[in-house]
Amino acid sequence: MRGIILAGGTATRLLPLTATTSKQLLPIYDRQMIFYPLNVLVKAGIKDILIIISPEHSGHFLNLLGSIFDKNDIRLEFKVQKAPRGLADAFIVGENFIGHDNVTMILGDNIFEDDFSEDIKRFKSGGKIFAVKVSDPERLGVVQFDENMKAVKIVEKPKEWLSDYAIPGLYIYDNQVIKAAKLVAPSARGEIEIVDINNWYLAKGELEVGMVKGKWLDAGTFDSLLEAGVFVKESKLYEKFDPIINQAIMEFNEELKILARKKL
Ligand code: TTP
Repeated sequence: MRGIILAGGTATRLLPLTATTSKQLLPIYDRQMIFYPLNVLVKAGIKDILIIISPEHSGHFLNLLGSIFDKNDIRLEFKVQKAPRGLADAFIVGENFIGHDNVTMILGDNIFEDDFSEDIKRFKSGGKIFAVKVSDPERLGVVQFDENMKAVKIVEKPKEWLSDYAIPGLYIYDNQVIKAAKLVAPSARGEIEIVDINNWYLAKGELEVGMVKGKWLDAGTFDSLLEAGVFVKESKLYEKFDPIINQAIMEFNEELKILARKKL
């Protein structure tokens, strides 16, 4: 299993904050946003992780993450997405990185309370996505279930109410996802849509939908960014991080402090 964090995009809803840095490098309480999706992958035992970034902020990501996992066998790779072509573009940009393996893709601005290790470790084939009950399904990808809670339909930002279950930004796919991403035609907004990938697997009867039990936030607006920080502080989510990440952040901070003292 390989991991991809999609951390490019334009982040227009967070301007002017994102005029000077990437959304995924903004703080959520005591650490940059990117550490939250990174933690989901590292907790699940994924060692090879590709971070897809936009050209403007590539240097910042390298400064923060380029050497942070020096002491263990987590291998981070970076790839620039020249233009934000959509979520499913991750599988085209990441084609060589994925190779013949399965892949878990997570959005760089998604904060999950749940631990998905078992879902990722147990995954064999097809696709696995998740559903979470929300109050504003019209602004998200939505999944409709039948009376047996079997997924029957997936629609991006439905104009008419379909269900209260949104699809958060964590997707587990087998290697067919590369082929599926190449088959998908860009939508009216010019993006390669993840909804088309999910419907491709659904039509083949190969899509499983799990439930998110804990808190989920996409930290892409001022309110959700603030809410995420408060949630992390109050729930002490940082204490539940994989020790590899907490140790790496601590050592990185110590190094920076030593460098700062030398400059005085
Ligand atoms: P979005 O929040 O849908 O888009 P955005 O981050 O550009 O923000 P805005 O709508 O405010 O302009 O993206 C979800 C995540 O996916 C986010 O972490 C950015 C990332 N992303 C990419 O890396 N490449 C892309 O082509 C797109 C569409 C998103």
